Amino acid sequence: MLYTHTTVKRIIHGAGCIKNAPAEAQRLGGTRALIITDPGIAKVGVQKPLQDALDQAGIPWSLYDHAELEPSVDSIASCAAAAKEFKADVLFGIGGGSALDTTKAAAVLLTNEGPINQYFGMGKVPNPLPPVILIPTTAGTGSEMTSISVLADTKNGGKWGVVSDYMYASAVLLDPELTIGLPPSVTAMTGIDAFVHAMESFVGKAATPITDALNLQAMKLIARSIRRAYVNGGDLAARADMLYASALAGMGFSNTQNGIIHAVGTAVPREYHLPHGLLMACLSPLCMGFNYMAQPEKYAEVARILGAKDEGCTLCLAKKAADCMAALLNDLDIKAGLQPYGVTRDELPLIAERAAGNARLIGNNPRPANAGQIQKLLESSYK
Ligand SMILES: [Fe+2]
Repeated sequence: MLYTHTTVKRIIHGAGCIKNAPAEAQRLGGTRALIITDPGIAKVGVQKPLQDALDQAGIPWSLYDHAELEPSVDSIASCAAAAKEFKADVLFGIGGGSALDTTKAAAVLLTNEGPINQYFGMGKVPNPLPPVILIPTTAGTGSEMTSISVLADTKNGGKWGVVSDYMYASAVLLDPELTIGLPPSVTAMTGIDAFVHAMESFVGKAATPITDALNLQAMKLIARSIRRAYVNGGDLAARADMLYASALAGMGFSNTQNGIIHAVGTAVPREYHLPHGLLMACLSPLCMGFNYMAQPEKYAEVARILGAKDEGCTLCLAKKAADCMAALLNDLDIKAGLQPYGVTRDELPLIAERAAGNARLIGNNPRPANAGQIQKLLESSYK
C-alpha cells in the first residue's frame, strides 16, 4: 500500500503574527488584496488588524463580507466576481470555516471557468490558483489546512466538496490573539469539533504514522487547554493550544477522512439549525461507545489523553474514552445525545440512512455501520 501525504507548505504562527500578512502577500507577488469574510466577523471587526497592516504596507485592499454560513454555488460566483472587479492578485480568507471555504472556492474561479459545481469531487480542478492566504479566527474546522471547500448545492439540497491539491493555501497565519473574543459556547463547540477531527482521523482506516503524529498532538493540546479556554477566553496560552491543535487536526484529516460522528452529524436535517460543532460534541460519547472495540489500542490512547487511569486492561481503558468525553462535555455545559436539541425520534431512520450512505466517511470508520445499526445506536440514547 502506498500513501501520499500533502499539506500546506508555509505556516506562520504566534501571537500578533497577523502583522506579517502584508509581507506574505508581497512574497507571493500580491499587489492588490481581496479580504474575504462573513458579515458577522465584519460587524465585529475581527479583520481590522489585517486591514490596518495592509494599509501600513501600502497594499490596496477591498473587503468582501458576504461569505455565507453554508456557502452556496452562487455565493462563490459573486465572491469571484468581486475579486475580478477589484483586480485582486492575492486573496485573504479570514474567519471561520465558511469564510475560508468561500475563499478557496472563489480562488478556483479566478483561473478556471465557472460554475464551481462542475468541480465537485476529487482532483477535478484543471489549473493552479492565485495566491491564497488563510487566517482562521475560530479554532475548530481546520479548514485553513485542508484542500477541500464544502459547498451547499441549492438545486438538490445537498452539501458537496471541491477537493484539489491546488486548494491548499499558499500561506496560513495562525494568530491566537484573533480568537480571544470567541464566546465560551463557540469555544467549546468548535474545540470539540477539532478534537473529533483528530480522533476520527486517528482511529480511522486511512490513518498513517504521519497523520497519527499530527492527530495525537492535536488531541493532547485540546485535552489540556479546552477547559481553560472555555472558562477564561483571555488565556492566550490556552487559545494558542486550541488554534494550533485545530490546524494540526486539519493537516491530519485532510489526508484521511473523518468517521461515523461526522457521518451522523452531517445527516441531521438542516432545518434544526444545530451548529456543526455542537452535533459533533453531542454525538461523540455514543459513537465512541460504538467504535471502541474495533480499535481498542487507539481508543485506549484517546482515553489516556482525556485523563482516564490506565489499570492495565487495554479494552477497559478503550471503553473509558466515551465516559471521559461525556465528562468533558459536562464541564463544557454541552448535553449529550440528539434528544436534548429537539430532534424527534421519528427523524432517526432518515438520519441513519443518510449517515450510512455517506461512503466517504463511513468507509473510513474503524467499525462498519449500516443504517439499521446506526438507527439502533441513536435510539439507545432516547428516553
Ligand atoms: Fe467537523
